[in-house]
Amino acid sequence: VHPTAARRDASIIVQSENTAYSDEFITSTFVNRGAEVNVVNGQYLVKPTADEFQFQTKRAVGKTGLMMVGLGGNNGTTLCATILANRHNITWGTKGGMQQPNYIGSMLRASTVSIGIDPATGRDVHVPISDVLPMVHPNDLVLGGWDISGLPMDKAMKRAKVLDYDLQRQVEPLMAELGKPLPSIYYPDYIAANQEARADNVLPGADKQAHLEQIRADIRAFKKDHGLDRVIVFWTANTERYSDIIPGVNDTADALLASIKSSHDEIAPSTVFAVAAILEGEPFVNGAPQNTFVPGVVQLAERAKAFIGGDDLKSGQTKLKSVLAEFLVNAGIKPLSIASYNHLGNNDGHNLSAERQFRSKEISKSSVVDDMVDANRLLYKAPEVDAKGQPVGKGEHPDHIVVIKYVPAVGDSKRAIDEYYSEIFCGGRQTINIFNECEDSLLATPLILDLAILTELLTRVQYRKSAAGADFQPLYSVLSLLSYMLKAPLVKPGTEVVNSLGRQRNALEAFLKACIGLEGSSDLLLQTRLW
Ligand code: NAI
Repeated sequence: VHPTAARRDASIIVQSENTAYSDEFITSTFVNRGAEVNVVNGQYLVKPTADEFQFQTKRAVGKTGLMMVGLGGNNGTTLCATILANRHNITWGTKGGMQQPNYIGSMLRASTVSIGIDPATGRDVHVPISDVLPMVHPNDLVLGGWDISGLPMDKAMKRAKVLDYDLQRQVEPLMAELGKPLPSIYYPDYIAANQEARADNVLPGADKQAHLEQIRADIRAFKKDHGLDRVIVFWTANTERYSDIIPGVNDTADALLASIKSSHDEIAPSTVFAVAAILEGEPFVNGAPQNTFVPGVVQLAERAKAFIGGDDLKSGQTKLKSVLAEFLVNAGIKPLSIASYNHLGNNDGHNLSAERQFRSKEISKSSVVDDMVDANRLLYKAPEVDAKGQPVGKGEHPDHIVVIKYVPAVGDSKRAIDEYYSEIFCGGRQTINIFNECEDSLLATPLILDLAILTELLTRVQYRKSAAGADFQPLYSVLSLLSYMLKAPLVKPGTEVVNSLGRQRNALEAFLKACIGLEGSSDLLLQTRLW
């Protein structure tokens, strides 16, 4: 038995007829309470709804591999080195004293959730989120992946200039054991021209079908060599330009597969990786902003019942924006403009200094306030409607700009400057300025961990509608429960995107609790309000 299976089983036992434990599964019954609203002659007619579901979570956590595309970059090397430091309990000297390894910044490993009230004290009982259901421990992840740069991992870590010298020094031999990243797919047109100098580890030729087959073979070999039950394939390589969506090329699963066979120009490396993972039945997560998930990829994942999630890690400026914009709008204050500037000096910044790669980032950073604005038509005028009652345009919206500049001197320490300019009571104005300075890769890598761990968990959860009495089936292919860690969450086509960080977190907490048969909001605290 892999140590993970024995070590990380649930320490929470729910004593209820809604929750059953067997050696293999935790099975819960959960009532999803909501309401159906019909607007008739200006009146809201609301009918409460209650749909019963069962969730079944496999208890044994399989041996899990994390294959990163972009392994030799800042995120890839930082993630590997910090996992090794945690696994081997390496402490290192800094000018402030000795530093212990930890997983601060990982929502799963460093934050808690209330599972109820202690009757003796009347207080909430908080547990680590990672205790709610069995999850893989980051120390147990088997690490590997690809990079177009063939620099061995110990040297790549030094190139990244993220970690303290004394940590680098100690972790260097362990990083050296990881060797050199696997050769990757390089189509120069997709990333900035300034990246060409590092592309010395690339798959030969221009035959995209041959590239797809090689990546599939790499995933299979990694799985077999390490005896893995699951491999998460994770794009943390350079931001690519957008692919054009062309009918007959990448708009359906079959068109996409045919376009890979014919090596069509509009198939990005990241899309080839996504297709490889899907065809191998392994999940693929996109940590960068480009539109890897063209409609054909989503359709292919649906058809294969494989899992995908993305896009773009939500680490700094956008995370704060998804809190601050919601706070303002929910406080009844009207943001008129949000102006966001960034400068950074790492290789990500260098790549983003090219126009088309910047455009991908600009798009993923731009939509983050849309849902908050749409939810408040007291402050923002709704779009006009056409003769058929369909909305025209987006309606009133704050001005929102995003600027990113490459400043080599600041390295991995990113500066994000934001101005929120709002209308307040009776014509007044409020200006909030934020200056957010952070080590980019140290905020981003814990998100990669969270995404990998959650994705692995979600592959072990199945559901069925109680009324239908059908067999358990896997969750829908697009894992929108990952949204908390993502700037531009991918959701089921045709459904609404939730950007609000608070709502994303609530959804995740509620889902994990539902899987052990707990429902209801602990924030109601009726026992403190009624008697
Ligand atoms: P980086 O530039 O240090 O690393 C990217 C790595 O990908 C490089 O080693 C490069 O050689 C490699 N690469 C490029 N194309 C490749 C391909 N086709 N196949 C395999 N490897 C390839 O960048 P960093 O800082 O690690 O960021 C990685 C990605 O994550 C970027 O797209 C960035 O926009 C995104 N991201 C990073 C955040 C952060 O805070 N660090 C936050 C949000 C997103």
